Amino acid sequence: MGYSELEKIKQSAFKEIGEVLDMKSLELWRIKYLGRKGKLTQVLRSLKSLSDSQKREIGPQANSLKKKLEELFTQKNQSFKTSHNQRSSFDISIPGKKITLGHLHPLTKTEQKIREIFLSMGFSIVTGPEIESEYYNFDALNIPPNHPARDMWNTFWLKTQINADQNADKRGNISVNQRKNPHKSALLLRTHTSPVQIRYMETHQPPFQIIVPGRVFRYEATDASHEINFYQVEGLMVGKDISLANFKFIIEEFLKKLFGNKVQFRFRPSYFPFVEPGLEVDIKINQKSKIKNQNLGWLEVMGAGMVHPRVFEAVHYNPRDWQGFAFGLGLERIAMIQYNIPDIRLFYSSDLRFIRQF
Ligand code: DAH
Repeated sequence: MGYSELEKIKQSAFKEIGEVLDMKSLELWRIKYLGRKGKLTQVLRSLKSLSDSQKREIGPQANSLKKKLEELFTQKNQSFKTSHNQRSSFDISIPGKKITLGHLHPLTKTEQKIREIFLSMGFSIVTGPEIESEYYNFDALNIPPNHPARDMWNTFWLKTQINADQNADKRGNISVNQRKNPHKSALLLRTHTSPVQIRYMETHQPPFQIIVPGRVFRYEATDASHEINFYQVEGLMVGKDISLANFKFIIEEFLKKLFGNKVQFRFRPSYFPFVEPGLEVDIKINQKSKIKNQNLGWLEVMGAGMVHPRVFEAVHYNPRDWQGFAFGLGLERIAMIQYNIPDIRLFYSSDLRFIRQF
């Protein structure tokens, strides 16, 4: 028994505790060195049979080694306990916290779907300004001032100098030519997406096919099927020999892709100054539909027709060379049918109970 004996114990104890990986082997380690029959305990017990001088030499060293090993034990024990606690606070079997995601507005969803369908049929997507001039919104679309058809679009006029001048015009102070100049014409919130037809044709040559999704405004009393602002998707296809048959095919494809193959629709003769002939498209809706203001199960979803020669003239296309169809569909109407929404005003109500359903 002596210094070298203690040194051996110390080295093997240090080495072994480094290899201890769990509570159980830590306990075995404790028993091996510090237990009642442990290696160090035995050394300490044998001290009393030693001579005084040996006691004085080995005693303190044995005691400090004991203290050291006890410290190692406590440290290791503590580290096991904390990592055990950490593990138990992260229980992977507990269901995760559900993060509430935002929702796409039903109109956004419907518009995205419509874009997708027309893109797949080779149409391009075009947009135009919401503040429009009288020229593009009306005149170029064959709706001259004072034409009774202007009553079809109740208009928000903007308060500008040009508009003031135009009021003067009504008293005969400004020439008609001046009014026809697109840059001098009065400003308004566009009442439909049709002016983008003009803007596009002014800068492009046929053949082409485009759709124009966008927001439009009407100075009207609101009810279940009318809002002061709503969305339209305009369509325009121009070529050498585009006919109403092409329109029927495209619209049938579109409606089938949107509502399924069983969709029923009908064309009804109608009037719009910028097309000839003009028509409206109705969709048969579910008997149980909650949509208000429907006409015995039929809901009007778009106006359409063959582009009027006067419209081609306004963009300097020769109407003898080109023909095409145009349509303007109401996005809300389509979304109301898709989701069985009874009232157009719900779209703009900002009511989360409504929005969260989509
Ligand atoms: N612009 C029309 C409206 O808002 C809808 C419309 C009808 C668009 C016929 C067209 C069309 O392109 O050909 O009432």
